[in-house]
Amino acid sequence: MKKSDRGAVIAGNWKMNNDRVQTRELISGLKPLVESADCDVVICVPFTNLETALNETAGTNIKVGAQNCHFEASGAYTGEISAGMLKELGVEYVILGHSERRQYFAETNSTVNLRLKAALKENLNVIVCVGETLDERENGITSEIVSMQIKTALKDVSTEQMQNIIVAYEPVWAIGTGRTATADQAAEVCGTIRNVVSEIFDVDVSKKLTIQYGGSMNPKNCDELLSKEDVDGGLIGGASLKAKDFAAIVDSASKN
Ligand code: PGA
Repeated sequence: MKKSDRGAVIAGNWKMNNDRVQTRELISGLKPLVESADCDVVICVPFTNLETALNETAGTNIKVGAQNCHFEASGAYTGEISAGMLKELGVEYVILGHSERRQYFAETNSTVNLRLKAALKENLNVIVCVGETLDERENGITSEIVSMQIKTALKDVSTEQMQNIIVAYEPVWAIGTGRTATADQAAEVCGTIRNVVSEIFDVDVSKKLTIQYGGSMNPKNCDELLSKEDVDGGLIGGASLKAKDFAAIVDSASKN
């Protein structure tokens, strides 16, 4: 299976940005710009904006995602949201294991795996994030780190469930820094991810897997990144907060 058969996914990660008014404004600006996209378009918004985003995108090609979910279905977990709660709202995607969750909220490879299994149980599409820190890259252990993150995150996941998984390769040093991985660096690690998935499952599963690059992707650098065979889309932070910029990346993915 070639890249062109996999289909690209461009997902916006709004992080902790936008109130409800801004959510409505951004979506109404985005709708006409991406309506003829030839790739999947997802916006992952703060929990409090999910319902607004679902209402505003109803009947359009824009899908809505959350930025995390808990691994238990319910119980004494103050401040957490379960996968079932997202499903009930009509949410279709969830980002898990984002490096900001790992860095600031003690997320580990094992809790990412637990959350991922809970999300799959609810039939959500999961965007699972992996990526090395600057230290790890400089020490030459990028592929070991990313392989370990993938192996742990996908533990006990079935071949069938892999259809609901997207992997986002996000080098931590490139997130929100304006410092992008070169297209070759991104392609190399995305290729490593595909190989690891092939080892865990088989070649067929690995070839069907959508792998995104994330980390300061913007309208200027997206063409080069998205032209790479193993880069099937993007997870976009900063540039997803401007309708025009996000739409330009969607256009690029539609062409590549
Ligand atoms: P950025 O964020 O595009 O602002 O670097 C990407 C992400 O964190 O998903």
